[in-house]
Amino acid sequence: MSRVEKRHMKISICGKGGSGKSTIVTLLANEFKAKGYRVLVVDSDESNSGLYRMLGFDHSPIPLMELVGGKKGLKEKMAVKFSSGESEPKMEVLTLDKILVKDIPPQHIKESDGLRLVNIGKILHSLEGCACPMGVLSREFLAKLYLDEDEIVIVDMEAGVEHFGRGIETSIDVVLVIVEPSFESLELAIKVKQLAAGAGVKNTWAILNKITSDAIATRLRDGLARRGMEIIGIVHHDPQVFEACLDGRKVDGGVVSEEMKKVADALLSKV
Ligand SMILES: Nc1ncnc2c1ncn2[C@@H]1O[C@H](COP(=O)(O)OP(=O)(O)OP(=O)(O)O)[C@@H](O)[C@H]1O
Ligand SMILES: [Mg+2]
Repeated sequence: MSRVEKRHMKISICGKGGSGKSTIVTLLANEFKAKGYRVLVVDSDESNSGLYRMLGFDHSPIPLMELVGGKKGLKEKMAVKFSSGESEPKMEVLTLDKILVKDIPPQHIKESDGLRLVNIGKILHSLEGCACPMGVLSREFLAKLYLDEDEIVIVDMEAGVEHFGRGIETSIDVVLVIVEPSFESLELAIKVKQLAAGAGVKNTWAILNKITSDAIATRLRDGLARRGMEIIGIVHHDPQVFEACLDGRKVDGGVVSEEMKKVADALLSKV
């Protein structure tokens, strides 16, 4: 019997606030896991904290930010680099040149049955300052993260496009932008495509989410196509997903599981 060849890739999930990024991260992680991949989810959203629940963990791992001395420690390192006069500061915030998933200290990674989660860090206090250090850490961590053949990384990004400004996508293989039925979401998707191309990402596709009819899917697909953007999957509005999100429970694809399976298959064949 011929050996089934496996892929490794780093996928970033982005889009407008509330479009369904964390939901799609969770559903896609479940699908790759079901296919026998080892999946690492990277929570790079510094605002929302419920991704661990959606993935079925009882709590979040200790943020990676704590590994580098917390936000304050990292800010100090950034300040030293800037004052040293480097025009393009290379912040060696993580000491290893190459990070393997097994190098991540156990308290900083949650693991259950082939699904793992790391958390970059969260804004917790008023007036604690901006989230730039989180962006630096996300970028460095993802760039240094070395994947084995059967490992897939899925990054849950913050809403909007600021992460492109922070260069987080520089080591990403695929950008998936979640488009819910709204003009704003559609416009943002086009912007994401341009920014991703600027960051050197070759593969950017849209996933339509919360779709309630074929007519709406067609309108969105046409709107994206007119602007030169291709979709890789359609995910319908799923009451089971909605209820799980409402109750803060683990999100398991109800009827959308089959749709997410198709997205996973398409990614494995295209990338
Ligand atoms: N396919 C779906 N079917 C039904 N409800 C959905 C679906 N996708 C998302 N939702 C609903 O949309 C809400 C927002 O989803 P989610 O938290 O995944 O968005 P997000 O883009 O990660 O938001 P944020 O920008 O705040 O991080 C969920 O709480 C859920 O109610
Ligand atoms: Mg989210």
